[in-house]
Amino acid sequence: MHHAWRRGALGPRQTILDLACGSGGTTIELAGLVGPSGRVRALDLSPEVIAEVRATIDARRLTQAVAEEAALDDVDLGHGTADAIWCRWAMAFVDDPIGLLERSYEALRPGGRVVSHEYLELGSWRRAAPSADLDALVLAVAQSWREDPDEPPAGIEIPVWLDQIGFDLADVQVVSDGRLSGLAWQWPREFVELGLSRLLAQDAITADLAHEIRTAHDEREAQPPAPDGTPALLEVIAVRP
Ligand SMILES: C[S@@+](CC[C@H](N)C(=O)[O-])C[C@H]1O[C@@H](n2cnc3c(N)ncnc32)[C@H](O)[C@@H]1O
Repeated sequence: MHHAWRRGALGPRQTILDLACGSGGTTIELAGLVGPSGRVRALDLSPEVIAEVRATIDARRLTQAVAEEAALDDVDLGHGTADAIWCRWAMAFVDDPIGLLERSYEALRPGGRVVSHEYLELGSWRRAAPSADLDALVLAVAQSWREDPDEPPAGIEIPVWLDQIGFDLADVQVVSDGRLSGLAWQWPREFVELGLSRLLAQDAITADLAHEIRTAHDEREAQPPAPDGTPALLEVIAVRP
């Protein structure tokens, strides 16, 4: 992620949008990056996560950051004022990702960048300390998305959409984010929680098995950090001309 931010030239005094910010690890890091004279606008649909992000912002007195409860499907992202937009693991949840990217174009100043990380293939995730339970969860979640008629867009489509909208594609590459710690590294926990919720809602897994998988995950989290990467992601840096 930090590598992508560097390549996308995110930095001090900028105005940055954090789309679908989740519990706010990235928002807090971005607030540190832009500094007191920059601005970070974090958006998420979930009132719970926005309350969490606001509490962290207040506790750290980060006056440069604001968190808003908003649906990316129709929120006004602004007009020509943003220097950069960070968007990770969000496109899959949005009804009209192309519309979101069009509004992102409008929100950016000329020269402004979208920096995006989206999944290419969920089933490519393997943990450094193997766990049969967690491996089974990964494969089941990947399969459940494949079988879904509303399957989320693969990351591979994003460069095509950006190009059609008029962005210049500055960089496109396959990455796996393998940071071991830090506020932003909540990926495995979120994957397990979201994956179990999804499979339980589809009756694709029993409550007992969900409990076993969650326990295996908790035990894994209690061990010393290991170099787990994310599944393969497509990293895209696109510039508004
Ligand atoms: C997998 S999390 C990613 C969080 C964060 N971007 C990160 O990288 O850690 C997906 C987030 O998207 C949010 N979300 C889902 N649908 C949304 C929508 N239509 N508008 C805004 N946020 C949405 C969820 O509430 C959740 O916090």
